Amino acid sequence: MYNFRKVTDDLFWVGANDHRLALFENIHPLYHGVSYNAYVLLDEKTVLFDTADWAVGRQFIENIQAVLAGRPLDYLVINHVEPDHAASIEEILLRWPKVKIVTSPKAVILLHQFGFPISADQVEEVREGDTKCFGKHTIAFVAAPMVHWPEAMVSFDTTNGVLFSADAFGSFRALDGKLFADEFDFDGEWLDDARRYYTNIVGKYGPQVQALLNKAAGIVGLDNIKYICPLHGPVWRKDLSYIIDKYVHWATYEPEEKGVMIVYASMYGNTETAAEVLASKLADRGVTNTRLYDVSSTHVSYLISDLFKYSHLVLASVTYNLGIFPPMHNFLADMKALNLQNRTVALVENGSWAPRSGALMRAELEKLKHMDILDDGVTMASSLQEQNLSDMDALADAIAASVLK
Ligand SMILES: Cc1cc2nc3c(=O)[nH]c(=O)nc-3n(C[C@H](O)[C@H](O)[C@H](O)COP(=O)(O)O)c2cc1C
Ligand SMILES: [Fe+2]
Ligand SMILES: [Fe+2]
Repeated sequence: MYNFRKVTDDLFWVGANDHRLALFENIHPLYHGVSYNAYVLLDEKTVLFDTADWAVGRQFIENIQAVLAGRPLDYLVINHVEPDHAASIEEILLRWPKVKIVTSPKAVILLHQFGFPISADQVEEVREGDTKCFGKHTIAFVAAPMVHWPEAMVSFDTTNGVLFSADAFGSFRALDGKLFADEFDFDGEWLDDARRYYTNIVGKYGPQVQALLNKAAGIVGLDNIKYICPLHGPVWRKDLSYIIDKYVHWATYEPEEKGVMIVYASMYGNTETAAEVLASKLADRGVTNTRLYDVSSTHVSYLISDLFKYSHLVLASVTYNLGIFPPMHNFLADMKALNLQNRTVALVENGSWAPRSGALMRAELEKLKHMDILDDGVTMASSLQEQNLSDMDALADAIAASVLK
């Protein structure tokens, strides 16, 4: 059965939710599903903006058919060819063989690489600044290179201010009937999923996201954007500055909040205890916006997400075969891969015969940009002892002074 929603008088959401996918991109766990969004515009011509993952192909096709109500599909605008959106293109071509594809030249190359049988006369290539009129609506195309693929573009409806933003402004989590961000408690319920999506999928490309935001401001004018229609998650029609502000923070690697994330690696529990002691000492000093995570039992996508949120980070790790405990090492590698920068970090190390994790973690952090690694740190032998408490107090003082300044 079809299941679509109206975005404006003549624009319809024809996407679908996937609750079965366990790992997005086969790496990031999903606990609340994900939506694949696509949109149909009913103008003098009919236009489909992007397609959907193969997993929801049947629902997606039913939705398009219901919205078209017998009209032919004239155009398919492809903003992004990653298979979570492009997989159903061939199905569209089979059902509406006369449909004309409107997309970027780079997208055409990628479509061929993925094996879609698209002939040159089926495609109308568009470049940055090009516009196309479908009747009442004129769409402007803006290139969004490396947000987060090279061919990505966004499409802006100059007639009513709808921005088809591709993966930008996307989020994990299924929509389940609701569509607009103002139909949810976004800040309470969704923001963490939106941040986890952005930081892990697009986080590395902050400069490119900044470039896109600046271009959108220049070409389109941010005030002229009335709706943001992303390829995942809710559509924005109110309070757009809220989500744009979040994007500005994430893209510039500025923390959203002053707060301390404590991530520990511990086999037998002694480093964990040290992390707890530090958290208590921080609370004693008035620093209560703290989060404590076991690196072994927290998926790294959550750690990365909170790292983009908070200003301060404490890493506490055992030494393992003269190295960093492997899950902690992986977390550090992911920080580097995602271009994380601009945080204040403190280190706690543990080892029973040759503690080295502190120096090794410092060396990894020094590979990141604009990281302020505090000189104070704690080294313990097997477990936290009375003689370590003065170092722990000094560390708590240094972190508190930095957070509360
Ligand atoms: C496989 C393995 C390798 C280890 N390698 C080292 C090491 O190279 N240097 C060291 O000082 N301790 C090493 N240790 C000891 C732990 O780091 C140590 O017992 C730790 O202090 C205990 O902290 P925890 O209770 O938080 O796990 C190793 C332990 C294991 C199980
Ligand atoms: Fe994508
Ligand atoms: Fe996507």
